[in-house]
Parts: sequence; C-alpha cells; structure tokens
Amino acid sequence: MNSAEHPRDRLPHRVVHALRCSVCGAQVKRADTTVRCHQGHSFDIAKQGYVNLLHARIPAGTADTAPMVAARAAFLGSGVYRPLADVLARLAATHAGDGLIVDAGAGTGYYLARALDAAPKAAGLALDVSALALRRAARAHERAGAAVWNLWEPWPMGDDVASMVFNVFAPRNAEQFHRVLAPGGLLVVATPTAGHLRELGDLVLDVDERKDERLARSLSEYFTRTSRVEVTNRVEFSPELVREVVDMGPTAHHLTDDRRARLEALSSPLDVTTSFAVSVYRAVTA
Ligand SMILES: C[S@@+](CC[C@H](N)C(=O)[O-])C[C@H]1O[C@@H](n2cnc3c(N)ncnc32)[C@H](O)[C@@H]1O
Ligand SMILES: [Zn+2]
Repeated sequence: MNSAEHPRDRLPHRVVHALRCSVCGAQVKRADTTVRCHQGHSFDIAKQGYVNLLHARIPAGTADTAPMVAARAAFLGSGVYRPLADVLARLAATHAGDGLIVDAGAGTGYYLARALDAAPKAAGLALDVSALALRRAARAHERAGAAVWNLWEPWPMGDDVASMVFNVFAPRNAEQFHRVLAPGGLLVVATPTAGHLRELGDLVLDVDERKDERLARSLSEYFTRTSRVEVTNRVEFSPELVREVVDMGPTAHHLTDDRRARLEALSSPLDVTTSFAVSVYRAVTA
C-alpha cells in the first residue's frame, strides 16, 4: 500500500482537530491507524478511512443497511437530487470559508462532497451511525473525513469547531448543532415537502405535513430561521430509479407483497415530483 492509499490519509488533520475522545472528552491525535487521546483511549481508523468513535451499541434498525446504502448511492449517482445539492453547495460557497462543514447524518457523503467542491478552503466531517454508508463518505472527497457516531448522544467534537452544520433528512439534535457551531455559523436543514415523490403513492412513506412545524419547534430554543427555499422539480424516473428510491428509504422494510410486486413489475418511466425545503438557521444569541 503506498502512502496515498493509507486509510489515515482519509481523515484530514483539520477533522481530527475538531474531534474529541468519546470516552473522556479530551483532544485526540492521529497515531498510525488510530485516533487517540492522551489517556490512551484509542479508536481505529478502518481500512476504508472512517474512524469509529462509538463505544456503545446502537439500537437495531437505526443505521441504514447494506442494500439501503447501495440503493442510495446508485440513486444519488443518477443526479436527480442534484438541484438540492446545488442549493447546499451555494450556501457552502458563501458561508463555509476556511472552516469545517459537519454533515450530521451524512450517509454516503454525497451532499458534503458537492459542498466541498464549492468551498475550496473548507474541510468536511461526515457523521453517521452507519459504517457502511461512511465507507463511501470517507472516499467522497479528499477534504472530508468520516466518523461513526450516534447523533442522539453528545457529539465527540469540541465546542465552536464548525462554520456550518448540514442536516439532510436525518435526525436533528439541536443542542449539539448549537454547541459545535462557531459564533456566526449556519445550520442548514433539508427536509422533503408534502409534494415530494407524490406520484409514487403508497410505495413511499407519506411525508408528514406538519414536519415544518415540528422542525421549527424542535430548533426554536437554540436557533432562529433566516431563510427557507423550496426546490421543486418534475423528473422522469426510470423503473430502476423508482426501485432505488424505494429501497434506499425506510419503507423498503415495510413493503407488502402486493407493493413489492407492483414495484418489480414497473416497466416504463414515471414523471415524479421531487420537492425539498432548505431552511437556514442562525444561533439565538443570549
Ligand atoms: C435518509 S438517510 C439520509 C442520508 C444523507 N443525508 C442523504 O440524504 O443522502 C438518514 C441517515 O441518517 C443516519 N442515521 C439515522 N439515525 C442516526 C443516528 N441516531 N445517528 C447517526 N446517524 C443516524 C442513517 O444511517 C442514514 O445514513
Ligand atoms: Zn480519552
């Protein structure tokens, strides 16, 4: 293995600098193929390049599974969600500066990589509980690192280390968003709107119409919204894309035989609405 392929090189120094030991909270350093604190707590950097900071088991059913991750990677690779990635990238271009973008629930790192392309001085950290997804995220961009973590636990990161936090269809921990964001930093939350994938009907879960309201309530203690845009398109989905978008989401586990049969039988393309809301928040100052 030459040095360019060494897994620790997938964990940029600036990312390590922002991380903390998940056992004692101390700063960590890279040491060969581990990340460790001065007390000797040590976390392996996997050969695929992500570091696993978790020291507890996570509830079954939380992380995306291998088939879900494969479907997500294939689906995103088609470019149909590119308009959403472009909105996030534009925000990164104007706000990330030379700071760190933390993508909370980053999955395969698709959005983080587009943002880093647009913000040439920034670094990125993909946090996700799915090591399978992070195998891809660790390779998604040379300025991105990836760490396995459960977002519901206090994050293994220092205070004020991020210039932006992204949260794209993933769990939201407002307190931790607030703690890791530097003063003036931005939180960017993407959610599906009610019209998203409407034509797919019961093949995908219904979008909760009150999601916006719930989102606002869950963040209001720490953040105030400064803007909201909707990104809506009609896109032709091949039968393969329809199957991928179903298989990458939570519905895949709950599909009845009848719905699975309908999905498998699809043979012609469908016009499908994709619709997202992107909300930008700033921390409430005391
Ligand atoms: C719908 S996917 C979105 C992934 C990515 N943001 C994207 O849009 O491609 C939700 C992601 O959240 C992750 N996730 C779910 N619960 C989590 C938790 N408690 N902690 C960390 N990640 C979690 C899943 O593993 C999955 O990658
Ligand atoms: Zn430690």
